[in-house]
Amino acid sequence: MHVRRQDMHWGGGNLLPDDEGKNDGNRDGNSGKPEDETRRAFIKAAGASAAALIFGALSFESFATPATRYRPVMKNYPVAVLVDSSGKAIKSSAIPAASETSASYPIMAFTYPLQDEPNILIKLSGVSIPNGAGPEGNITAFSGICQHLGCIVPLLDYHPHNSIPFEAKLIGYNETNWPRYGLLFCKCHGSQYDPTRGPHNLYNSGPAPSPANHSLPQVLLYVDAEDNVYAIGMNPVNAVIRTHLEEPGGEEYGPEVMDENLSGGTILPLYNGPALPPLPSEIKSPDEPLYMTIVASSSNGPWPGSY
Ligand code: FES
Repeated sequence: MHVRRQDMHWGGGNLLPDDEGKNDGNRDGNSGKPEDETRRAFIKAAGASAAALIFGALSFESFATPATRYRPVMKNYPVAVLVDSSGKAIKSSAIPAASETSASYPIMAFTYPLQDEPNILIKLSGVSIPNGAGPEGNITAFSGICQHLGCIVPLLDYHPHNSIPFEAKLIGYNETNWPRYGLLFCKCHGSQYDPTRGPHNLYNSGPAPSPANHSLPQVLLYVDAEDNVYAIGMNPVNAVIRTHLEEPGGEEYGPEVMDENLSGGTILPLYNGPALPPLPSEIKSPDEPLYMTIVASSSNGPWPGSY
Protein backbone atom coordinates (compact mmCIF):
# COMPACT_ATOMS: atom_id res chain seq x y z
CA MET A 1 0.00 0.00 0.00
CA HIS A 2 2.75 2.40 0.88
CA VAL A 3 5.88 3.42 -0.92
CA ARG A 4 8.82 1.81 0.78
CA ARG A 5 10.14 5.14 1.87
CA GLN A 6 13.29 3.82 3.43
CA ASP A 7 14.45 2.66 0.01
CA MET A 8 13.81 5.84 -1.88
CA HIS A 9 16.20 8.58 -2.74
CA TRP A 10 15.05 11.69 -0.99
CA GLY A 11 14.76 14.64 -3.31
CA GLY A 12 16.13 17.89 -2.01
CA GLY A 13 19.19 18.26 0.14
CA ASN A 14 17.44 18.60 3.42
CA LEU A 15 15.53 15.36 3.01
CA LEU A 16 18.45 13.09 2.29
CA PRO A 17 18.80 10.77 5.23
CA ASP A 18 22.21 11.13 6.72
CA ASP A 19 23.89 7.72 6.87
CA GLU A 20 26.96 9.00 8.64
CA GLY A 21 28.04 6.58 11.33
CA LYS A 22 25.71 3.86 10.20
CA ASN A 23 28.25 1.12 10.71
CA ASP A 24 30.64 2.72 13.12
CA GLY A 25 29.46 0.56 16.02
CA ASN A 26 30.12 3.55 18.24
CA ARG A 27 26.95 5.43 18.58
CA ASP A 28 26.22 9.05 18.72
CA GLY A 29 29.23 11.04 19.49
CA ASN A 30 31.15 8.75 21.80
CA SER A 31 33.89 8.05 19.31
CA GLY A 32 37.46 8.80 20.14
CA LYS A 33 36.96 9.10 23.89
CA PRO A 34 39.65 7.18 25.75
CA GLU A 35 38.25 4.38 27.84
CA ASP A 36 39.71 5.72 31.12
CA GLU A 37 38.26 9.12 30.45
CA THR A 38 34.90 7.60 29.71
CA ARG A 39 35.08 5.54 32.89
CA ARG A 40 36.03 8.56 35.00
CA ALA A 41 33.22 10.58 33.47
CA PHE A 42 30.80 7.78 34.17
CA ILE A 43 31.83 7.47 37.81
CA LYS A 44 31.65 11.22 38.23
CA ALA A 45 28.22 11.24 36.73
CA ALA A 46 26.88 8.33 38.70
CA GLY A 47 26.44 10.37 41.89
CA ALA A 48 24.86 13.23 40.04
CA SER A 49 22.60 10.92 38.11
CA ALA A 50 21.52 9.32 41.37
CA ALA A 51 20.54 12.75 42.64
CA ALA A 52 18.60 13.36 39.47
CA LEU A 53 16.93 10.00 39.92
CA ILE A 54 15.74 10.96 43.38
CA PHE A 55 14.15 14.10 42.06
CA GLY A 56 12.67 12.34 39.07
CA ALA A 57 11.58 9.17 40.81
CA LEU A 58 8.08 10.22 41.72
CA SER A 59 7.14 11.29 38.25
CA PHE A 60 9.08 8.46 36.64
CA GLU A 61 6.80 5.89 38.24
CA SER A 62 3.84 7.04 36.22
CA PHE A 63 5.75 7.52 32.98
CA ALA A 64 7.65 4.23 32.85
CA THR A 65 7.16 2.35 29.63
CA PRO A 66 3.98 0.27 29.70
CA ALA A 67 4.24 -3.29 28.44
CA THR A 68 1.77 -2.53 25.67
CA ARG A 69 4.30 -0.18 24.14
CA TYR A 70 6.49 -3.06 22.94
CA ARG A 71 5.48 -2.97 19.32
CA PRO A 72 7.40 -3.41 16.14
CA VAL A 73 8.56 -0.46 14.15
CA MET A 74 6.46 -0.14 11.02
CA LYS A 75 7.69 -1.20 7.64
CA ASN A 76 6.18 1.56 5.59
CA TYR A 77 5.53 4.84 7.24
CA PRO A 78 2.29 6.73 6.72
CA VAL A 79 2.23 10.24 5.30
CA ALA A 80 0.45 12.47 7.80
CA VAL A 81 -0.27 16.17 7.55
CA LEU A 82 0.25 18.10 10.78
CA VAL A 83 -2.98 19.79 11.81
CA ASP A 84 -4.32 21.90 14.66
CA SER A 85 -7.12 20.73 16.93
CA SER A 86 -9.72 21.87 14.38
CA GLY A 87 -8.16 19.70 11.70
CA LYS A 88 -6.64 22.58 9.77
CA ALA A 89 -3.15 22.06 8.37
CA ILE A 90 -0.54 24.04 10.26
CA LYS A 91 1.95 26.22 8.41
CA SER A 92 5.66 25.85 8.93
CA SER A 93 5.93 29.63 9.25
CA ALA A 94 3.68 29.46 12.34
CA ILE A 95 6.08 27.19 14.20
CA PRO A 96 8.00 29.29 16.75
CA ALA A 97 11.77 29.24 16.31
CA ALA A 98 14.22 28.99 19.18
CA SER A 99 17.32 31.15 19.03
CA GLU A 100 20.58 31.23 20.96
CA THR A 101 18.98 33.66 23.40
CA SER A 102 15.61 31.98 23.91
CA ALA A 103 14.62 31.63 27.55
CA SER A 104 11.66 29.37 26.89
CA TYR A 105 10.19 27.27 24.15
CA PRO A 106 6.72 25.77 23.92
CA ILE A 107 6.22 22.05 23.88
CA MET A 108 4.71 21.12 20.52
CA ALA A 109 3.91 17.44 20.37
CA PHE A 110 2.25 15.19 17.84
CA THR A 111 1.88 11.44 17.51
CA TYR A 112 3.60 9.56 14.73
CA PRO A 113 3.88 7.03 13.15
CA LEU A 114 1.27 5.50 15.45
CA GLN A 115 -1.44 7.08 17.50
CA ASP A 116 0.31 6.71 20.84
CA GLU A 117 3.86 7.65 19.87
CA PRO A 118 4.64 11.24 20.86
CA ASN A 119 7.16 13.39 19.02
CA ILE A 120 8.53 16.84 19.75
CA LEU A 121 8.41 19.48 17.02
CA ILE A 122 11.35 21.89 16.98
CA LYS A 123 12.39 24.86 14.85
CA LEU A 124 15.76 26.51 15.34
CA SER A 125 16.55 29.99 14.11
CA GLY A 126 19.60 30.16 11.87
CA VAL A 127 20.47 26.47 12.06
CA SER A 128 20.33 23.96 9.23
CA ILE A 129 19.52 20.71 10.99
CA PRO A 130 20.67 17.46 9.34
CA ASN A 131 17.60 16.07 7.57
CA GLY A 132 15.59 19.07 8.70
CA ALA A 133 12.67 20.38 6.63
CA GLY A 134 11.52 23.72 5.28
CA PRO A 135 13.33 26.27 3.13
CA GLU A 136 16.06 26.65 5.73
CA GLY A 137 16.14 23.02 6.82
CA ASN A 138 15.62 24.20 10.36
CA ILE A 139 12.43 22.32 11.26
CA THR A 140 12.54 18.82 12.66
CA ALA A 141 10.90 16.52 15.15
CA PHE A 142 12.26 13.87 17.43
CA SER A 143 10.62 11.01 19.21
CA GLY A 144 9.25 12.19 22.53
CA ILE A 145 10.15 8.84 24.09
CA CYS A 146 13.45 8.88 25.94
CA GLN A 147 15.78 6.20 24.67
CA HIS A 148 16.90 5.32 28.19
CA LEU A 149 13.85 3.86 29.92
CA GLY A 150 11.05 5.38 27.95
CA CYS A 151 10.00 8.50 29.85
CA ILE A 152 7.94 10.63 27.53
CA VAL A 153 7.20 14.27 26.81
CA PRO A 154 6.84 16.47 28.88
CA LEU A 155 9.43 14.78 31.13
CA LEU A 156 11.54 14.71 27.99
CA ASP A 157 11.47 18.22 26.57
CA TYR A 158 13.52 20.75 24.62
CA HIS A 159 15.17 23.49 26.66
CA PRO A 160 16.84 26.30 24.70
CA HIS A 161 20.01 28.06 25.75
CA ASN A 162 18.62 30.29 28.48
CA SER A 163 16.31 27.71 29.92
CA ILE A 164 18.38 25.16 31.81
CA PRO A 165 16.12 22.78 33.72
CA PHE A 166 16.71 22.41 37.43
CA GLU A 167 17.45 18.73 37.02
CA ALA A 168 20.21 19.54 34.51
CA LYS A 169 21.81 21.92 36.98
CA LEU A 170 21.91 19.06 39.45
CA ILE A 171 24.25 17.16 37.18
CA GLY A 172 26.55 20.11 36.61
CA TYR A 173 25.08 22.18 33.80
CA ASN A 174 25.26 25.96 34.00
CA GLU A 175 25.10 28.98 31.68
CA THR A 176 28.56 28.29 30.32
CA ASN A 177 28.27 24.61 29.47
CA TRP A 178 24.63 24.37 28.37
CA PRO A 179 24.90 24.28 24.57
CA ARG A 180 24.17 27.33 22.40
CA TYR A 181 20.85 25.93 21.24
CA GLY A 182 20.19 23.97 24.39
CA LEU A 183 19.28 20.31 24.62
CA LEU A 184 16.38 17.96 24.79
CA PHE A 185 16.69 16.84 28.37
CA CYS A 186 14.98 13.97 30.16
CA LYS A 187 14.17 14.82 33.75
CA CYS A 188 13.88 11.17 34.74
CA HIS A 189 17.61 10.37 34.82
CA GLY A 190 19.31 13.09 32.82
CA SER A 191 19.59 11.85 29.24
CA GLN A 192 20.60 14.60 26.84
CA TYR A 193 20.03 15.03 23.12
CA ASP A 194 21.32 17.82 20.86
CA PRO A 195 18.67 18.89 18.31
CA THR A 196 21.21 20.61 16.05
CA ARG A 197 22.75 17.24 15.20
CA GLY A 198 19.72 15.66 13.55
CA PRO A 199 19.74 11.87 13.76
CA HIS A 200 23.00 11.69 15.74
CA ASN A 201 21.62 13.69 18.63
CA LEU A 202 22.75 11.74 21.69
CA TYR A 203 24.84 14.23 23.67
CA ASN A 204 27.73 13.18 25.86
CA SER A 205 29.81 16.34 25.88
CA GLY A 206 28.42 17.82 29.08
CA PRO A 207 29.41 17.37 32.71
CA ALA A 208 27.61 14.03 32.98
CA PRO A 209 27.02 11.42 30.28
CA SER A 210 23.56 10.41 29.15
CA PRO A 211 22.26 7.16 30.61
CA ALA A 212 20.66 6.56 27.21
CA ASN A 213 22.90 4.97 24.62
CA HIS A 214 20.83 5.75 21.55
CA SER A 215 19.81 8.98 19.83
CA LEU A 216 16.20 10.00 19.67
CA PRO A 217 14.71 8.78 16.38
CA GLN A 218 14.14 11.68 14.00
CA VAL A 219 10.85 12.17 12.19
CA LEU A 220 11.32 13.13 8.56
CA LEU A 221 9.19 16.15 7.76
CA TYR A 222 8.25 17.69 4.45
CA VAL A 223 6.97 21.21 3.75
CA ASP A 224 4.91 21.66 0.59
CA ALA A 225 4.62 24.70 -1.68
CA GLU A 226 1.78 26.05 0.44
CA ASP A 227 3.79 25.78 3.64
CA ASN A 228 1.88 22.77 4.98
CA VAL A 229 3.92 20.34 7.06
CA TYR A 230 3.85 16.56 6.73
CA ALA A 231 5.44 13.70 8.62
CA ILE A 232 6.61 11.29 5.93
CA GLY A 233 8.69 8.72 7.79
CA MET A 234 11.32 8.06 10.38
CA ASN A 235 14.93 8.69 9.46
CA PRO A 236 16.41 5.23 8.85
CA VAL A 237 19.48 6.44 10.70
CA ASN A 238 18.65 5.70 14.33
CA ALA A 239 15.11 4.83 13.31
CA VAL A 240 14.41 2.34 16.03
CA ILE A 241 12.19 3.66 18.73
CA ARG A 242 13.47 1.80 21.75
CA THR A 243 10.18 1.17 23.41
CA HIS A 244 8.58 -0.10 20.23
CA LEU A 245 10.93 -2.94 19.55
CA GLU A 246 9.63 -6.40 19.05
CA GLU A 247 12.89 -8.10 19.92
CA PRO A 248 14.50 -7.39 23.29
CA GLY A 249 17.97 -6.04 22.69
CA GLY A 250 17.18 -5.42 19.05
CA GLU A 251 18.07 -1.78 19.16
CA GLU A 252 20.30 -1.98 16.10
CA TYR A 253 19.50 0.72 13.66
CA GLY A 254 19.59 0.42 9.93
CA PRO A 255 18.26 -2.38 7.75
CA GLU A 256 17.05 -4.47 10.66
CA VAL A 257 14.23 -2.13 11.48
CA MET A 258 13.01 -1.91 7.93
CA ASP A 259 11.72 -5.46 7.94
CA GLU A 260 9.48 -4.85 10.90
CA ASN A 261 5.90 -3.69 10.70
CA LEU A 262 3.20 -1.94 12.63
CA SER A 263 1.08 -4.88 13.61
CA GLY A 264 -0.65 -4.26 16.88
CA GLY A 265 -0.36 -0.49 16.64
CA THR A 266 -3.10 2.09 16.41
CA ILE A 267 -3.04 3.96 13.14
CA LEU A 268 -3.47 7.69 12.83
CA PRO A 269 -6.83 9.10 11.70
CA LEU A 270 -7.35 9.84 8.03
CA TYR A 271 -7.16 13.46 6.95
CA ASN A 272 -10.60 14.77 6.01
CA GLY A 273 -10.03 18.52 5.79
CA PRO A 274 -9.82 20.88 2.82
CA ALA A 275 -7.92 19.68 -0.24
CA LEU A 276 -4.16 20.03 -0.06
CA PRO A 277 -1.70 20.28 -2.93
CA PRO A 278 -0.72 16.90 -4.42
CA LEU A 279 2.48 15.56 -2.98
CA PRO A 280 5.43 14.42 -5.08
CA SER A 281 4.97 10.79 -6.07
CA GLU A 282 8.14 9.73 -4.28
CA ILE A 283 6.54 10.90 -1.05
CA LYS A 284 3.01 9.67 -1.59
CA SER A 285 1.29 8.12 -4.54
CA PRO A 286 -2.26 9.38 -5.25
CA ASP A 287 -3.82 6.09 -4.15
CA GLU A 288 -2.13 6.09 -0.78
CA PRO A 289 -4.18 7.46 2.12
CA LEU A 290 -3.25 10.74 3.73
CA TYR A 291 -3.36 10.65 7.50
CA MET A 292 -3.33 13.50 9.96
CA THR A 293 -1.77 14.11 13.32
CA ILE A 294 -2.73 16.90 15.72
CA VAL A 295 -0.03 19.19 17.04
CA ALA A 296 -0.70 20.18 20.64
CA SER A 297 1.40 22.85 22.26
CA SER A 298 1.81 24.10 25.78
CA SER A 299 -0.11 27.25 26.67
CA ASN A 300 2.70 29.50 25.39
CA GLY A 301 2.63 27.81 21.99
CA PRO A 302 0.53 28.40 18.89
CA TRP A 303 -1.76 25.38 19.27
CA PRO A 304 -2.61 25.04 22.98
CA GLY A 305 -3.60 21.51 23.78
CA SER A 306 -2.93 18.87 26.35
CA TYR A 307 0.67 19.97 26.91
FE1 FES B 1 16.00 7.63 31.95
FE2 FES B 1 15.02 9.37 30.23
S1 FES B 1 14.10 7.56 30.92
S2 FES B 1 16.89 9.44 31.27
